[in-house]
Amino acid sequence: MSLRLAGGARTCTIEPPVLLAPMAGITAAPFRRLVAALGGLGAAVTEYQRITVAPLPARVLRRALGEPLAIPVAVQFMLADDQHLPASAANAERAGAAWIDLNFGCPAPIVFKKCAGSALLAHPERMARFVQRAVHATALPVTAKLRAGIDSPAHLEELVCAVAEAGAAAVTVHARLRRDSYETPATWEWLERAVRALRACARPVPVIGNGGVECAADIARLRTLTGVAAVMVGRAAIADPFIFRVAAGGAPPTVAEAARWALAYLAAAPAPPLAKQLVRYWRAAGMLAEPEERRRLLRATPAEIRAWFAERAAAAPRAEPRALTVGA
Ligand SMILES: Cc1cc2nc3c(=O)[nH]c(=O)nc-3n(C[C@H](O)[C@H](O)[C@H](O)COP(=O)(O)O)c2cc1C
Repeated sequence: MSLRLAGGARTCTIEPPVLLAPMAGITAAPFRRLVAALGGLGAAVTEYQRITVAPLPARVLRRALGEPLAIPVAVQFMLADDQHLPASAANAERAGAAWIDLNFGCPAPIVFKKCAGSALLAHPERMARFVQRAVHATALPVTAKLRAGIDSPAHLEELVCAVAEAGAAAVTVHARLRRDSYETPATWEWLERAVRALRACARPVPVIGNGGVECAADIARLRTLTGVAAVMVGRAAIADPFIFRVAAGGAPPTVAEAARWALAYLAAAPAPPLAKQLVRYWRAAGMLAEPEERRRLLRATPAEIRAWFAERAAAAPRAEPRALTVGA
């Protein structure tokens, strides 16, 4: 099973049709590389790159993409004005992006006030124009990532059809409203609505469903319940980066393996605050099941956090998986 994104002259195949969501401050290149190495992941997207007063240079976008991976990685742009979008899109192609994604979902007040991210949901004609200009500027496929609405999902069909008819190769729908931020449970019925609308619109394209995946089994469940062509996983991948491997039929991690992954990430992560971010979400291999232990670790220094993971990585040595085969 795969998802094919068709661009002008270039296409991109996502196999399996499971994506890592862009998450600013977390899913930078080291995170993407280490998750992709575990298997089961079809594609990833950079955190949003803001286009403001000048085109984003290829050098900046190359840095955001990081070293090439075996899976396709898209560059995501966030913008309020499309003046520098065509040149930025051309630079993304030069930098090695597999496709270009446009952000119409960020709920942050500062972004919203500047009429970027989810604020554009009030302006489907501008969303369509942005997609159209990106499509004309590059041979790469262009996708749009949007929320179901600002305060209500009443215009969902209009929004997804606007970007599809403007040339988007697929539409990622985050099944929450802007006013929900990240906390409210996702409403998967909205994904089903988007699928129906995009099958019936003048230019039918696939939906990538996002929001509320909590465990590996949810990935298949979301696809079956809603009919989306692919699933994008956000915070559950920070909590358990092995979610993609397990969803693809691979083994769940042992505590030692999960702890080793966390140590590798902390060694590669660009900034110490990321240690706290990881602890906030982490639950791979059943770790940090006690809320008090998580609270204590959240108060620890990055060095103490590393020591906590190192202790668990060492406690169950690498021989652990072999032990399972004894007597087999
Ligand atoms: C810390 C954080 C940063 C995020 N940054 C971005 C971003 O740069 N671009 C984007 O389109 N969405 C961003 N998102 C939204 C996620 O891509 C995703 O849509 C959202 O987390 C819902 O998926 P989930 O319920 O699986 O977490 C971010 C989410 C979080 C929690």
